[in-house]
Amino acid sequence: MENLLVTGGCGFMGSDFIRYLLTESDFNGRVINLDTLTYAGNPENLNGMDERFSDRYFFVKADICDPKALDRVFEEFSIDSVCHFAAETHVDRSIMGPSAFIRTNIEGTFNLLESVRSRLDKISLFHHISTDEVYGSLGEKGYFTEDTPYNPSSPYSASKAASDHLVSAYNRTYHLPITISNCSNNYGPYQFPEKLIPLMILNAIEGKPLPVYGTGKNIRDWIYVKDHSRAVWAIMKKGEKGGKYHIGGKYEMRNIDVVEMICDLLDSIKVKKDSAPRRNLITFVEDRKGHDFRYAMDFTKLENELGWTPAESFETGLKKTIDWYLNHNDWVQRVKSGEYRNWIKTHYGG
Ligand code: NAD
Ligand code: TYD
Repeated sequence: MENLLVTGGCGFMGSDFIRYLLTESDFNGRVINLDTLTYAGNPENLNGMDERFSDRYFFVKADICDPKALDRVFEEFSIDSVCHFAAETHVDRSIMGPSAFIRTNIEGTFNLLESVRSRLDKISLFHHISTDEVYGSLGEKGYFTEDTPYNPSSPYSASKAASDHLVSAYNRTYHLPITISNCSNNYGPYQFPEKLIPLMILNAIEGKPLPVYGTGKNIRDWIYVKDHSRAVWAIMKKGEKGGKYHIGGKYEMRNIDVVEMICDLLDSIKVKKDSAPRRNLITFVEDRKGHDFRYAMDFTKLENELGWTPAESFETGLKKTIDWYLNHNDWVQRVKSGEYRNWIKTHYGG
């Protein structure tokens, strides 16, 4: 892997992965970050990387739904490996308007696979980033294993399931050298404030209502984003070709407990102006349609085969994340005001 194409590298998890590759891992090739910069893509997430790694980091603004642009990038940078993060990722948006999810997550993945198929002799790996949501919902007990049948509930998870199937099919049919990882809920710095944890942190800082869907008893397994980046790189380096690996945080929490923890941590760091506890801001709102009750990952395979295990506990990871949002008010304000979009327009047009 000398010329690695990372798609969606200006998003939350893709930017963490690129930062990890360049600053902490043993990867010493070039990273080509291809991102079309949707509302979730923000080049500021990788501030300083192009100056610090001017001969190893390259950004190309392009859409994975544009096969010609993909071909140009594969040729120009002699791409020999791919790590595919680019996607539409927010479940609530997929419920309101599924079409972008079908386009990017299914057609976009198909286009990338075709670009790889047309130069199979040059490609050593296609790694596909996916989610635990492809399996649907668990009850109170049990875990998803790599053999659990797919049963997605939302347009988002159905589109990710379709993309996983395409990637597997290209492996079986065309012998594309692939690996797939399915991971639970990530949290950490630079996450767009529409997902549960950053939304609750920012609303709680500002004293705004904290909208908890339904009863708040739905359960998610949480993983710190750096742990995800480490796991993906381990799989890319040592994972079995054609193999699928689960990644998890081993930290299941009910949504209401996550929100209360955020309130209490923030109260201990920064007392609200009216000194009322932030838990008073919690507001139960209408439930999400088709809301999966529980996700939990069995990632024994990754632990046993590749020796990976999550390093961050939820308590320490959440504390770091809250500190990050408190200390990056400029980023927060530019994202919340939409100013980051003006910057993108000025620098990249459209
Ligand atoms: P994100 O929404 O923060 O970022 C997505 C990135 O993809 C953005 O930079 C966006 O501009 C880019 N993108 C979107 N459409 C594109 C297109 N057509 N062409 C090129 N780029 C495009 O997402 P994230 O939370 O960082 O998730 C990254 C990946 O991880 C996704 O594949 C997601 O399904 C998967 N995943 C996410 C989680 C999670 O908790 N966030 C958990 C498991 C798996
Ligand atoms: P989210 O961060 O959207 O991730 P996902 O749906 O991919 O798991 O949501 C995490 C959980 O939090 C999910 O059960 C829905 C719930 N939730 C709320 O209760 N309120 C909110 O405002 C949001 C965004 C999510």
